[in-house]
Amino acid sequence: MEKKQIVMSGIRPTGFLHLGNYFGAMRNYVKMQEEYECYFMVADLHSLTTHPDTKTLAESVRRVLAENIACGLDPEKAALYCQSHVKETTELYLYLNMLAYKGELEKTPTFKDKVRQHPDNVNAGLLTYPVLMAADILLHRAALVPVGKDQEQHLEIARNYAQRFNKRYAEVFPEPYPFNFGHQLVKVPSLDGTGKMSKSENQNATIYLADTDELIRKKVMKAKTDGGPTEPNSEKPDYIENIFNLMKLVSEPSVIQKYEEDFNNCTIRYGDMKKQLGEDMAKFIAPIREKAEAIQNDHIYLKKVMEAGAEKARISAGKTLDEVRKAMGLIYY
Ligand code: TRP
Repeated sequence: MEKKQIVMSGIRPTGFLHLGNYFGAMRNYVKMQEEYECYFMVADLHSLTTHPDTKTLAESVRRVLAENIACGLDPEKAALYCQSHVKETTELYLYLNMLAYKGELEKTPTFKDKVRQHPDNVNAGLLTYPVLMAADILLHRAALVPVGKDQEQHLEIARNYAQRFNKRYAEVFPEPYPFNFGHQLVKVPSLDGTGKMSKSENQNATIYLADTDELIRKKVMKAKTDGGPTEPNSEKPDYIENIFNLMKLVSEPSVIQKYEEDFNNCTIRYGDMKKQLGEDMAKFIAPIREKAEAIQNDHIYLKKVMEAGAEKARISAGKTLDEVRKAMGLIYY
């Protein structure tokens, strides 16, 4: 049998998943698990770099896992695990640190951002964040890494380390590249008409998978609109286009067509349109939210998922590290 290609990605256990994560990332992961050998990991060690309140860590890790499973990730198909459960990660991280140059790491834009945001916590873990991420990926010798634009620089660093390792010791690692399953990544516009939905920016303009029906309706009703077009077949302003685009994600084609026509003949009532969008959005999210809640409270099930995922990950990691140690000459008897 032909060996499946390996896909690896990590999700930080911070914040709640939102509609942008769902359409941009999760749906892709769900498709990938059918065709690739997938490793999806909760990056709990990465989250320590910013000194979170560790009392809430367990809850956050469970939430991320529950939300991912509710979106369709199947622990039977993909290895779903927690970074700190696979200790091989930290061993490889140490080896890669020898190939990681301080000057390069200091130039990484995400590091510079963190320094600006938290000048009082510029720790070495933060500086070597990309080294740990490279370890996550190279641990499984994954070549395909589904990540957003914001992580591409980190991936380039991972490629550098793979090359350096292969050159210095022996050919062990493939070079990992960003991967989005041959599809354009779906961008989910924010409700305030500026940019995409995001964890960190305006929370009222982002729909979270954990939002109640009520809250979803409220957020959608607040989306920016205007008095409507005055000329037939006008061009839509960005913020109106966004509302149509959101509708395309969750509403019936006939509904969208009706509002397109209303827009084109200047009879559109944005209040009605947003009411419809709110309903459709709530209907779309409710089953995911309910499923995630049920899973999140089932600690026994989640423990089993994490254990099984870590076991799969450790098998793959163990094989890689055997080769790594051999390549590095770290075998003495
Ligand atoms: N750094 C990634 C983020 O902030 C999370 C992550 C950690 C990751 N390890 C990874 C992503 C490995 C892809 C592959 O989103």
